[in-house]
Amino acid sequence: GNTYKIIMVRHGESEWNQKNLFCGWYNADLSAKGVQEAQSAGKALKQAGHKFDLAYTSVLMRANKTLDAILKELGQQNIPIQKTWRLNERHYGGLTGLNKLDTVAKYGEEQVAIWRRSFNVPPPAITPENPYYDHIINDPIYNDGPAKNEFPMFESLELTIKRTLPFWNDVIVPQIKTGKFILIAAHGNSLRGLVKHLDNMSNEEIMQLNLPTGIPFMYTLNKSSLKPVEGGSLQFLGDPETVRKAMEDVANQIKKK
Ligand code: 3PG
Repeated sequence: GNTYKIIMVRHGESEWNQKNLFCGWYNADLSAKGVQEAQSAGKALKQAGHKFDLAYTSVLMRANKTLDAILKELGQQNIPIQKTWRLNERHYGGLTGLNKLDTVAKYGEEQVAIWRRSFNVPPPAITPENPYYDHIINDPIYNDGPAKNEFPMFESLELTIKRTLPFWNDVIVPQIKTGKFILIAAHGNSLRGLVKHLDNMSNEEIMQLNLPTGIPFMYTLNKSSLKPVEGGSLQFLGDPETVRKAMEDVANQIKKK
């Protein structure tokens, strides 16, 4: 055919999503619900008849376990998997470990919405006083990068894209071009960066996009431009109303109930 297909998925609900905490580079585990979401994603992919050649994921356990659960459902645990910090969630800086609603109570909803969704306004930097500072910076999952002198202390979406896109362009794209069918299991904001790039979304448009946990989505790309064909963007593997509700729930994490 004239197209390539690729599937991406945000990890299932993590223990910190469940507690509504800013997580970023904290290495939270999946919640029981998150494990189920990952298994359901695997079942849906199997039902749709997908078979992957290769998978990419971050170095964070919530994405790794989501990928493993999906591949197990597919009976494809033997395919090559490459892990990279470049697909990590964006680093939430000084917000790491704070409850999202407590942060709204302290700084106001408008400020928190800017920290979560603006393109280039970063959160405050993480400092050694943060209870998770050492856990993050000394974690052996970063032995292969980033180097200590370029280890982020915070990231905006813009900074996240700057370290994710080189991996997309230099590693993933050449594999897509050899015709490999790829699965990427990553995070809300690293995937928002890829979506923004693929769909040429403006800095304003991307603010409105919230990715749900554990619902795979496909891109159908034109073979020469590597840009989505008509209707080939963000094709969620799920019923539209469930997807819409799940996206709204992510947006509403900072709304009082
Ligand atoms: C986190 O890192 O807290 C979440 O995984 C993504 O958070 P956000 O939807 O508030 O950007």
